[in-house]
Amino acid sequence: MIYLAALLIGLSLLGALATLAISLHGLWLWWQGRQQRLGRRLRIRRSQWLSEDLLHLELVHPWRLPLPRFAPGQFLTILAQPPGSRPMRRCYSLAAWHSRPWQYQLCIKREALGRMSQWLAEQAQPGRSLRILPPAGHFTLESQHGPHLVLIAGGVGITPMRAMLHAWLKRPGGRRLTLLYGGRDQAALAYHQELLTLAAAHPEFDYRPALSRDSQAPSAWQGRLDRQRLSEIVTADSEVFICAGDALLKACLAHLSDLGLPDSRVHWEAFGAGALGAGAGQFALDWQGEALDYNGQPSLLHALHEQGVELAADCWGGHCGSCRLGCKGAVEWRQQPALALPAGQILACCCIPKEPLQLVRL
Ligand code: FES
Repeated sequence: MIYLAALLIGLSLLGALATLAISLHGLWLWWQGRQQRLGRRLRIRRSQWLSEDLLHLELVHPWRLPLPRFAPGQFLTILAQPPGSRPMRRCYSLAAWHSRPWQYQLCIKREALGRMSQWLAEQAQPGRSLRILPPAGHFTLESQHGPHLVLIAGGVGITPMRAMLHAWLKRPGGRRLTLLYGGRDQAALAYHQELLTLAAAHPEFDYRPALSRDSQAPSAWQGRLDRQRLSEIVTADSEVFICAGDALLKACLAHLSDLGLPDSRVHWEAFGAGALGAGAGQFALDWQGEALDYNGQPSLLHALHEQGVELAADCWGGHCGSCRLGCKGAVEWRQQPALALPAGQILACCCIPKEPLQLVRL
C-alpha cells in the first residue's frame, strides 16, 4: 500500500514537473518570438561624435547580461517612434566584433534627410534605451574566405569592415588583410588612429587610406580609390568585401571585373537609404487597390513610406528581403538585389517604376 502511494506521489510530481517544463518552454518561445518582432531594449552606455557627422554608440543589456553573438559584417535594426511620427526602423552595421559580446558598437552617419539618424543624433544620449532587433545579415566574413582579404570601405562603410578586422585579428589563420578606406580627408575617417595603431602592431594587416582632398596627408594616401589603387593590391587569390555608397561601389565592381576577379570572390553591401540619390519620373501606383503615386523618390520603398504604407525595411540595400512585394508592371533596378527573386516579385528598396504598377504585400 505504501509503495503504491509513493508511486502515485512520484508520478504526480513527475507530471507537475513536466507541465512546468512545458509551460516554461512555451513562455521562452513566446518571449523569443516577441523579441524577434518587437526587439529588446538595450541601454546606451557611451555616445561619441567621431567626426562632424559620424556618431559612435555603445549599447549594453540593462542588467549587464551578455548579448546574442553575431557574425562580423552583420547589422542591427533600431526601432523607434518619435512623438508625432510614424514608426521607423533602420539597419546599422555592427562596428566592432567580439566572440562573446557584452556590448554592441554602432557608427551612425547623420544624413540630412535621414529621419532616424537625425533623431538618434539628438536623442542618443548615455542612459537612454533603444529598441533593437537581433543581429542579422548575410554580408559576413567567414573563416574560409581568403587567403588574401581586401576590405574596401567608403565613408561610414568602415563599420562592418572594422568588425571584420576585429574578427580577423582574433583568428588570422595565415591570411593577409588589406583595408582600403576612402574619404575626403583624415578628419573624415572614423577610427583612423585605431587602424593606424593596429597596422603598426600587425605586419599582416595593411591599412591604406585614400584621401580625395587632403594635401597634408602622406603622398601614398592622397588620391581617390580608383582602378590603379585596386590593381596594386588585388591579385588572383584576393577575396574582396566592399561597403560603400552607390557611386564608389559601382566603380569598384567595374574595376574588379576589369581586373578579372570572379564575381564569386567579390562581396558587397551598399549603405544608406539615401545612397541611391533621387529617382526620376511620375507614375501611378495601385497599392492593394489604393491609389498612390511615385514622384521621383530614390526608390519605390521611399515613395510607399512617404505615403504612409507600413512596409518593413530592414536593410535598404536589397539584402534582407523584408520589402519584397508582388508587382505587375516594369521596374528599373537602381541597385542589384542580393536575393534571387521569382518573376512578378520585386524588392521595393532597389527599384523605381518604368510604368504604372500594381503592388501587393506578400
Ligand atoms: S529593405 Fe532589405 S531588401 Fe529591401
